[in-house]
Amino acid sequence: MQNKLQKIAKDTNIFLKKFIKKQKKSNLIIPMKYGLFSGGKKIRSKILIDVGSIFKINYNSLIIIGAAVECIHAYSLIHDDLPCMDNDKLRRGKPAAHIKFGESTAVLAGNSLLTMAFEILSFNSLNLSEKIKNNLINKISKCSGHLGIAGGQYLDLDFENKKISKKRVIEMEIKKTGKLFSFCCVAPLIIKNKNHKEIKRFEKIGSDIGLLFQVADDLIDYKGKSSIAGKKTGKDKKKGKATLISLLGYKNTIKYARNLILKINNNVKKYGPRSEELSKTLSFILNREK
Ligand code: IPE
Ligand code: IPE
Ligand code: MG
Ligand code: MG
Ligand code: MG
Repeated sequence: MQNKLQKIAKDTNIFLKKFIKKQKKSNLIIPMKYGLFSGGKKIRSKILIDVGSIFKINYNSLIIIGAAVECIHAYSLIHDDLPCMDNDKLRRGKPAAHIKFGESTAVLAGNSLLTMAFEILSFNSLNLSEKIKNNLINKISKCSGHLGIAGGQYLDLDFENKKISKKRVIEMEIKKTGKLFSFCCVAPLIIKNKNHKEIKRFEKIGSDIGLLFQVADDLIDYKGKSSIAGKKTGKDKKKGKATLISLLGYKNTIKYARNLILKINNNVKKYGPRSEELSKTLSFILNREK
């Protein structure tokens, strides 16, 4: 798994470096690059490639679409660490962007990474029809805005120190993290012009994978080591974050996550041996330490 992730990270970073190099210089390039290239597992790109290979999509197109996703992910982390949000100083074992460059620069570099995702998806060299590119941009926009990452981040902060039902916690985690995974799972189907029903099915698979990913992240915060995770751990409880762990306890949350994996595997197994790599990625997501 690590080798595969490393190859995807390498190919994604090569694409992004070239893409940025072709642009005019600006003062935001350095903080943007810091957000993009300071590490990161590229797990969203891995999911995109796993689903993409079920539908036999060309690897290079998947790398370019994954690069757009990673730009949005990098933006979301820069903003997530700001003092007005989670107020964290350590990210990927290094100072958070606002610690290194100041708050206003971090906000603006984050904004620029968000819009760069749309630039990448409308990029000439992405060898897809205008119609498909438009559908991809439409979908990724919806996954990032008020019904996706931004809306979920709002709920995450709003729920601090409140008693929140399990249903609402799940809704929040699916918005802030799950929706971008949904995009990764449906992009290959959008490219293949699959019908509405099948797209809906993969949207759900994606939000379940994203929920699994966030639950695993919450478990790392609860039990993990900061030196391994590359970010401060034990902070969700201190901040009164509404998580499944706070509602169900540690052991039941692990059970919940294992059941999610069973459910997702059940939903993808009809795609045969080509879905096996996706199943391996799911186990990696739950068992990872960072
Ligand atoms: C961390 O995401 C933030 C969450 C959505 C839980 P990742 O764990 O994918 O972060 P990197 O990119 O690997 O650092
Ligand atoms: C972040 O969730 C979700 C985002 C969309 C950025 P967390 O706040 O739990 O992520 P970490 O633990 O800081 O990486
Ligand atoms: Mg947060
Ligand atoms: Mg955070
Ligand atoms: Mg976390």
